[in-house]
Amino acid sequence: MADAKILIDRASKLFLEGTVVAFRNIELSVRTNEILCIVGPSGCGKTTLLRCIGGLVAPTSGRVLIDGATVERPRAGVAIVFQHFGLLPWKTVAANVAFGLKVGGAPRGETAERAEHYIKLVGLGGFENHYPYQLSGGMQQRVGLARALATNPEILLMDEPFASVDAQTREVLQEELLGLHERERKTMVFITHSIDEALVLGDRVAVMSAHPGRVKEVLPVEFSRPRDASAVRADARYAELRNHIWSELRPTAVV
Ligand SMILES: Nc1ncnc2c1ncn2[C@@H]1O[C@H](COP(=O)(O)OP(=O)(O)OP(=O)(O)O)[C@@H](O)[C@H]1O
Ligand SMILES: [Mg+2]
Repeated sequence: MADAKILIDRASKLFLEGTVVAFRNIELSVRTNEILCIVGPSGCGKTTLLRCIGGLVAPTSGRVLIDGATVERPRAGVAIVFQHFGLLPWKTVAANVAFGLKVGGAPRGETAERAEHYIKLVGLGGFENHYPYQLSGGMQQRVGLARALATNPEILLMDEPFASVDAQTREVLQEELLGLHERERKTMVFITHSIDEALVLGDRVAVMSAHPGRVKEVLPVEFSRPRDASAVRADARYAELRNHIWSELRPTAVV
């Protein structure tokens, strides 16, 4: 695909000498500035795929390309929000958020300012000097989000970033992410277990199946932007898409 920012080219990932297949033969592209959401049952290889895109692990076969170049290691301009937060426990909220910026070589004053801005954005103003263990899971996840956003990445890879926040906060963060996407135009890969979330945020939704993980279908989600989450949910096409994805996932879904 000509305008592919990220191209996953027949990639497979096997673990434990080939006895565990995380995913097999995945062919998927992410266009510049689009939000591609990935849904699929637990264990179908979503996190592993995201780690391959981020250059943290290499596929066993096939390739991942960003801007036409094979990904071999983590690269500047690509930020990851980890499923299990990935915070440094000995650093405060402010220091965790500033960490990525420091590594990136941002000047000191600017680092503190940017960290502050993104901590407020995710609703953690006042918690700058807390340590991760003093925060709830949802709050820690928001620190991970702030840390990724603060680096102003071109590509944002997000692994269930809102999974452990409460329903109200989740909707607020979804709106924030939509707003951010409007303002700053980033390419995003967003993993979620929520079909609703995938439809509210995504330009397309890739549906994966398990054992081995494969991409079953990639669905376009054609609600206009800027998007209003409640308008999307009220649209007749939303119900149609939701039912369709649900029926795709149903055979392997845990109920
Ligand atoms: N480092 C590893 N060593 C061995 N097996 C692994 C490793 N990482 C992942 N796997 C296996 O690969 C498969 C896919 O795991 P992965 O974490 O990518 O799934 P997932 O789709 O993100 O699941 P979830 O929705 O529960 O987060 C699983 O069978 C898992 O046990
Ligand atoms: Mg996962």
